Amino acid sequence: MTAGSFLQELDAFKAERLAPIVGAGQTSLLGPASGDAIALLRVALANEINVAELAAAWTPTTPEVDVKIAFARQAGDEAGHFQLVADRLVALGVDLGGFQPPGANPLFDYLRGLSTTVERVAGGLYTLESIAYAVNENFMAFCSQRGDAETVRIYREYIQPDEQRHQRLGRQLLEKYATGPESQARSREVVGRVLEIATAARAKAAERLGIDCLPGC
Ligand SMILES: [Fe+2]
Ligand SMILES: [Fe+2]
Repeated sequence: MTAGSFLQELDAFKAERLAPIVGAGQTSLLGPASGDAIALLRVALANEINVAELAAAWTPTTPEVDVKIAFARQAGDEAGHFQLVADRLVALGVDLGGFQPPGANPLFDYLRGLSTTVERVAGGLYTLESIAYAVNENFMAFCSQRGDAETVRIYREYIQPDEQRHQRLGRQLLEKYATGPESQARSREVVGRVLEIATAARAKAAERLGIDCLPGC
């Protein structure tokens, strides 16, 4: 399959698997106003540091220079998101003095185990960043319902443009590198698996937090 038609097919597959995650967030926005905005921002904080570390870990072990630089730049962007969210939490009165980076979780364990460039681009930039962009829109709607315009502004002006750029860059890089049947099949497998693990992890976290509008990274 040509890289162009492969990507078209992969976009459709990703959108189909992403729909339930987005739908769950939209549904929970219609329910009673439960959920703790601070707890959700803490989820964002953990996600941002996890993805910053992931992209940083992939940088030295990715030989293709354009992908290496994409990961390095992403690591910097995600560290910036961490700081924005941390500053917002502090402004809301949260003491982050004892903050500890989060422990292992199944999604990042899986991603960290990906060893080829195509797998990493498919799982990280292309899929994880698409999830992030989509779920952050729900999180912003949740904040907006709560009257937290400042958090919405931070996401709208700084975080979302980065997540969207990461996702687009992932698509471009996949189009460049996933050119054979093997790498295309493997890409599809990774996209499906990341969405599967993320769906399960988010459902579990949503149950714990009482709301399905968790932000991504
Ligand atoms: Fe981020
Ligand atoms: Fe991101």
